[in-house]
Amino acid sequence: MSEPATVLEPDAAPARGALPRLLTGVRANGAPLPLDLHLRLHGALASSSRAGLIELVAASGLRGRGGAGFPVAQKLEAVANGRGRPVVVANGTEGEPASDKDKALLRCVPHLVLDGVSLAARAVGATEAIVAIAAGSRNERTAVEHALAERNARALDGEARISLAVTPDRFIAGEESALVNLLNGGPAKPVFVPPRPFERGVGGEPTLVQNVETLAHLALIARHGAEWFRELGSDDEPGSALVTLSGGVRRPGVYEVGLGAAFRDIVIGAGGLSEPATALLVGGYFGGWIEARSVLELSLLDAELAPHGIGMGARAIAVLPQGACGVVETARVARYLADESAGQCGPCVNGLAAIATALERIAAGRPDRSAGQILRWAAQVRGRGACKHPDGAARLVESGLRVFAREFELHAHGRRCSGDGRTVLPTEVSR
Ligand SMILES: Cc1cc2nc3c(=O)[nH]c(=O)nc-3n(C[C@H](O)[C@H](O)[C@H](O)COP(=O)(O)O)c2cc1C
Ligand code: SF4
Repeated sequence: MSEPATVLEPDAAPARGALPRLLTGVRANGAPLPLDLHLRLHGALASSSRAGLIELVAASGLRGRGGAGFPVAQKLEAVANGRGRPVVVANGTEGEPASDKDKALLRCVPHLVLDGVSLAARAVGATEAIVAIAAGSRNERTAVEHALAERNARALDGEARISLAVTPDRFIAGEESALVNLLNGGPAKPVFVPPRPFERGVGGEPTLVQNVETLAHLALIARHGAEWFRELGSDDEPGSALVTLSGGVRRPGVYEVGLGAAFRDIVIGAGGLSEPATALLVGGYFGGWIEARSVLELSLLDAELAPHGIGMGARAIAVLPQGACGVVETARVARYLADESAGQCGPCVNGLAAIATALERIAAGRPDRSAGQILRWAAQVRGRGACKHPDGAARLVESGLRVFAREFELHAHGRRCSGDGRTVLPTEVSR
């Protein structure tokens, strides 16, 4: 995270609609906030009943921050009402190369995430919780291990038993059925659902899988209430959210913004454009491209992006500067996603690889397939996998063909586009 948030004075009451929320107390050197400072800053968690917690989350309107935006209260309710001994899994795997927000939270404010884990366990009646972090995220694992030791030494009231699980450094390992499969001793590969994890998950028990940012919001909602949470955002998409900005901005990094913030202001908050931009990749690698002139007028809300066929996903935003080529970048991400297929569903394995190869050939000025053919393949892989991986990849490719139609045309005829040969989008997670 390149842009540290302001350090609030301990015991300062949060001002109405003020930011940062999650990133309050982040230290300039990025070191984890120790337990004593965390408690001085946020106060101890009040004790609350199971039903009271779920009602509070329902009133807050909190939606998951891991990509799908599912209402959290509904998931809590389903797991709490399931048969068996519920388990909570905090998803901190973050295998998306354009996103760094979950790692930032785990690294800088691990106790806020662990408070959320503890509250979620209380809400569903779980005595066991697992925080899943990728093998390559060493600093994040060290921060959480240390934070768990601090909490054990204090024997915090009513805390569930929280352990740490290490996951492979793969994009697909963060998909919830893959994660549950791994925790059950299998490979980190998605399985066909139902049963979904909330019905039968870890050890066959009802399992709540929740993104670590979602859980950190829960920790603040429990302290400040649903109304406070709703001071930012819209009725349907309330609260703040973390965004990761990369590409052509002056200060790339993780920022906290109110949902509904204008893209223009988000980019200005990251120091502004480093040079004129042609398009933004919005919602990460399962999101899509939008022309810069259109997107800068939009707000960070799924409702505003839906007409463009795009969701905010985990809110990674990459800016494509004028000198980089949208055809090349679309081909690079398509190849990355094809290589990250779990390799078990035919349309995903063969379809994504064929799409990536065709795009690479066009990018290199040696096309052997038309844009129309690629669009037909993309339509054919949608909904054809055990998980949503092919759907996300198809969405990205379709948006690239739409937004960079002119550049595709130039490449298809072996002519030069405005690209100067540089590449911008990361295809490896920075750990
Ligand atoms: C291919 C794929 C990769 C995913 N990777 C992640 C991930 O890295 N982190 C995450 O929290 N959710 C990821 N998800 C979403 C999870 O399946 C799940 O919806 C999420 O962890 C639930 O948490 P939330 O409701 O708090 O967002 C991924 C989904 C797919 C289809
Ligand atoms: S759709 Fe693709 S990524 Fe998902 S399970 Fe099947 S092969 Fe794996």
